[in-house]
Amino acid sequence: MAFSYMPGFGNDFETETLPGSLPQGRNSPQRPAYGLYAEQLSGSPFTAPRGTNERSWLYRIRPSVKHTGRFKPAHYPLWKSAPNVGDHELALGQYRWNPVPMPKEPTDFIAGMRSITTAGDVLGQTGMAAHVYVANRSMVDDHFFNADGELLIVPQVGALRFVTEMGVIELRPGEIAVLPRGLVFKVELVDAEVRGYVCENYGAKLTLPDRGPIGANCLANPRDFKTPCAWFEEKETPCRLTVKWCGNFHVTEIGHSPLDVVAWHGNYAPYKYDLATFSPVGALLFDHPDPSIFTVLTAPSGEEGTANIDFVIFPPRWLVAEDTFRPPWYHRNIMSEFMGLIHGQYDAKEEGFVPGGISLHNLMLAHGPDAPGFEKASRADLKPVKLDNTMAFMFETRFPQMLTRYGAELETRQDNYIDCWADLKKRFNGTPEGDWS
Ligand SMILES: [Fe+2]
Repeated sequence: MAFSYMPGFGNDFETETLPGSLPQGRNSPQRPAYGLYAEQLSGSPFTAPRGTNERSWLYRIRPSVKHTGRFKPAHYPLWKSAPNVGDHELALGQYRWNPVPMPKEPTDFIAGMRSITTAGDVLGQTGMAAHVYVANRSMVDDHFFNADGELLIVPQVGALRFVTEMGVIELRPGEIAVLPRGLVFKVELVDAEVRGYVCENYGAKLTLPDRGPIGANCLANPRDFKTPCAWFEEKETPCRLTVKWCGNFHVTEIGHSPLDVVAWHGNYAPYKYDLATFSPVGALLFDHPDPSIFTVLTAPSGEEGTANIDFVIFPPRWLVAEDTFRPPWYHRNIMSEFMGLIHGQYDAKEEGFVPGGISLHNLMLAHGPDAPGFEKASRADLKPVKLDNTMAFMFETRFPQMLTRYGAELETRQDNYIDCWADLKKRFNGTPEGDWS
């Protein structure tokens, strides 16, 4: 079955599955067509300024009050929320991991969520968490929504299908999806095993960064974002709905599928984006812009230019700068940097950072090219070079990222990561040329 999408970022969309199921000219008619219930989903306060005011009107078989009963506690001990501090003994450091292992037991997308870092405070609606998901089983009659934040999903292995109350998003590695706070969904696996990264954004919604002097084009262009058309199922079987709410989980049992929205309109909706459509802008003559030039989406913090989260990618691109050390420079940062690699090789590391892996360079901790990478880039013939077959990304936040016990004790953590800089030699010998022997 092919699912269809509507192009644009933050548009006021409208979509219906049955002719005439979407009311025209009003939001809440006395009797909506087909006996549907009209319901508003508010993603911003009613009174938010127009530019950030987000809501959608959903026309559904049953209203959402029928999609919850009495709640019982549920437990997902590896999905942590901020603040989550001091639950392990690992000392401060720059850290790197090989991929999180695939599960041996049957595991769905929610049970397969493993938190690596948390930052900020879920109750204060600031900060984020960085997770890895691993799964080998579809959700069939299980559904989920997250009241704590929106979910940015970055697949690394395997295709999956997000069956949401507002439509279906099919997603494969190389694409990303954003599911807004509160949206009900289940996750079906297209491939037998899947793995990927998730940024859970507790704060203001992700949006497109301003381009400044770049102008009206390049980076992520709005038309390349795709929001699903309405889709529903009429399924009268025992179902469960699990909710993540202020860091805890609760489950309720209902007698039908909550994915029953026949038509909807509005600007609060899930979307996906193909990272291959990102048009990178960079140095044309010399030097190296800050990696913010590769920001796909940014979540503002309320303080200008200081993001709660920046989602940054390192896509295929030409390197042409003259008399320039071309890889990312050595760096200490007030922002903290969680990196992943979707495929290929990252240009600051010759080895050790593999697809599915993670690196964490936290608040003010030094990082940069490894010793072989520095040697190679310092002696390279600076012809134009195409950096190809690569897609790394970064979840960057203004808050320090606190490592979870799961991340600290994960067997794939590389105990020798710090050694990648051990062979950087002293080149200073008092002469202008330095010692390059
Ligand atoms: Fe950095």
